Amino acid sequence: MSDWFKTLDGLHDRMWQRLSRGVADRKSPARQPTFATVSADGWPEARTVVLRTAQRDTATLEVYTDLHSDKITSLRTTPRAALHIWEDKQHLQIRLQCAVTILTGDAVRDRWNPIPERGRMSYGVTPAPGTPLGDDALAYDKDPDFATFAVLSCAIQRIDLVHLGDDHRRAAYARADGWQGQWLSP
Ligand SMILES: Cc1cc2nc3c(=O)[nH]c(=O)nc-3n(C[C@H](O)[C@H](O)[C@H](O)COP(=O)(O)O)c2cc1C
Repeated sequence: MSDWFKTLDGLHDRMWQRLSRGVADRKSPARQPTFATVSADGWPEARTVVLRTAQRDTATLEVYTDLHSDKITSLRTTPRAALHIWEDKQHLQIRLQCAVTILTGDAVRDRWNPIPERGRMSYGVTPAPGTPLGDDALAYDKDPDFATFAVLSCAIQRIDLVHLGDDHRRAAYARADGWQGQWLSP
């Protein structure tokens, strides 16, 4: 479908197609969204993460992280996140606002089990992520630890899509109105 960007449903479908692609394909732009939170003292914080799942029926995404990372402190105060993706070949900007639930322990064992040992290295570092290290940049140890593995379950509430073709089109969608969508001035 060459003119997917001309309809609200077409744009919405394409977004989900790209999110699914991001989960499956390491080289896809949607593989590594920018994930933004608000710190306890009100600062915006943005960082790259890996998109692990994208489930359209529940409009939920998952990201994995270290339970001791600063983003967890932020999400405990303000359980909201914005995700940003620029799909350059599609000329499509995806912005998502999400309500975030932090999952750990038995609830996430099924996600932990298939992660290879090398991948698990991202979850379990001493001292905790963000701790000052003094003069030695490598004065830390990585030791995979299921107890520090957290899944951020991100329930999308609002979607903002911008398509920069010969014409510029912008559309917004909300969970509250069943994702029917509306055009916005870009
Ligand atoms: C390509 C790339 C992928 C990353 N993926 C993740 C990820 O999936 N989860 C994560 O917690 N951090 C990931 N990081 C590290 C974060 O960007 C960030 O540095 C770290 O989580 C600490 O952030 P915080 O102090 O704001 O919590 C990734 C970084 C890069 C460069």
